[in-house]
Amino acid sequence: MKLAILSRAPRSYSTQRLRTAAVDRGHDVKVLNTLRFGIDLTGEEPDLLFRGKQLSTYDAVLPRIGNSITYFGTAVVRQFEQMDVYTPNTSYGIANSRDKLRATQILSRHKIPMPATTFVQDRADVIPAIESVGGAPVVIKLLEGTQGIGVILAPTLKVAEAIIETLQSTRQNVLIQRFVKESKGRDIRALVVGDRVVAAMRRVAQGDEFRSNVHRGGSVEPVELDEEFERIAVRSAQIMGLRVAGVDMLEGKNGPQVMEVNSSPGLEGIEAATKLDVAGAIIDYIDNQVAFPDIDVRQRLTVSTGYGVAEIVVHGGSDMVGKKLGESGLDERDITVLTLHRGTQVIPNPRNKTVLEGEDRLLCFGKLEEMRSMIPDRKERRVKRLMKKHLPPTTP
Ligand SMILES: Nc1ncnc2c1ncn2[C@@H]1O[C@H](COP(=O)(O)OP(=O)(O)O)[C@@H](O)[C@H]1O
Ligand SMILES: [Mg+2]
Repeated sequence: MKLAILSRAPRSYSTQRLRTAAVDRGHDVKVLNTLRFGIDLTGEEPDLLFRGKQLSTYDAVLPRIGNSITYFGTAVVRQFEQMDVYTPNTSYGIANSRDKLRATQILSRHKIPMPATTFVQDRADVIPAIESVGGAPVVIKLLEGTQGIGVILAPTLKVAEAIIETLQSTRQNVLIQRFVKESKGRDIRALVVGDRVVAAMRRVAQGDEFRSNVHRGGSVEPVELDEEFERIAVRSAQIMGLRVAGVDMLEGKNGPQVMEVNSSPGLEGIEAATKLDVAGAIIDYIDNQVAFPDIDVRQRLTVSTGYGVAEIVVHGGSDMVGKKLGESGLDERDITVLTLHRGTQVIPNPRNKTVLEGEDRLLCFGKLEEMRSMIPDRKERRVKRLMKKHLPPTTP
């Protein structure tokens, strides 16, 4: 395949390793400086310029977009997507994972375990917000920090309030997060490629530092992940729309607590800790997937007038409960079930003999008019949510 690695750091360990892994496997690979692209929207087809000249044809692109150029970098990746070039990490995946608030919102929708987190704007809401996540000590995070910069542990309510007020007065938005004390300055970095964890390490913070980032002096060791950590890491990456990702998890009392999903994970620490060929695994995965560029399914499926995608929830009292999918009447109403969500489990292309259970969620494609009658009205949904909501556990 012909592969472009988008990177502003051609000499960095990660870029070098990826380039070498591709060359060793006989691929044609170029490292292209993301900032030298031009997005050409003048012609009939979406196009890209590189250093002012039309870019030649590529089969795949591997974006390594730094934090400081997210806007331009994701625009370049989006242009590759428009040109049907395969990318393991989509532009929306990169953009979503960059913003800690947006990432947390998306992950929480899918029941990924995370430290209790709140986001408030008004001064009057700060103290109640801190209390709602378990009180001090509390973690305060800048939305777009990286390498541990912008992650602060406030020992008391007063200090926390002062820090938040100071940051907000300089127009910086912050997240307030429960301090997962039991994790004791350690965390897990799982490197996800496709639908598996190819390598994992534990990072241990130095001295009395609580941040375990390698850039903050954290040391690394290989770790054998249990199934729960692996499953949560893979799901988090998938939900974010990232096929190559570094998922950071704390070791909480009740299992993994996801902190963030990184779209350009560094390879040096993890390859050194595990002695595994992570770069090779990434290249092999791209080579394998290159025939399947990301398709915006929703966009393509809704171009037929009157048809669309919707989620139908099978409520406990519904007469669909206990029936086989084939007997549910959906087929007769011209509704096709694409996936069935049951708790955290997802069944793609569910068979007609699948028996429906209460609270199953069916992602469907079909006539909007038919589906509308099966979707509970908003008020009902909201009431259910309120009833289900439980407060996060507080640290003793
Ligand atoms: N809620 C928390 N409880 C305990 N430690 C945390 C918490 N959030 C972050 N940390 C520590 O701080 C480090 C950096 O936090 P993270 O959210 O990953 O930001 P960054 O993007 O800067 O790496 C983590 O690797 C972890 O060691
Ligand atoms: Mg991190």
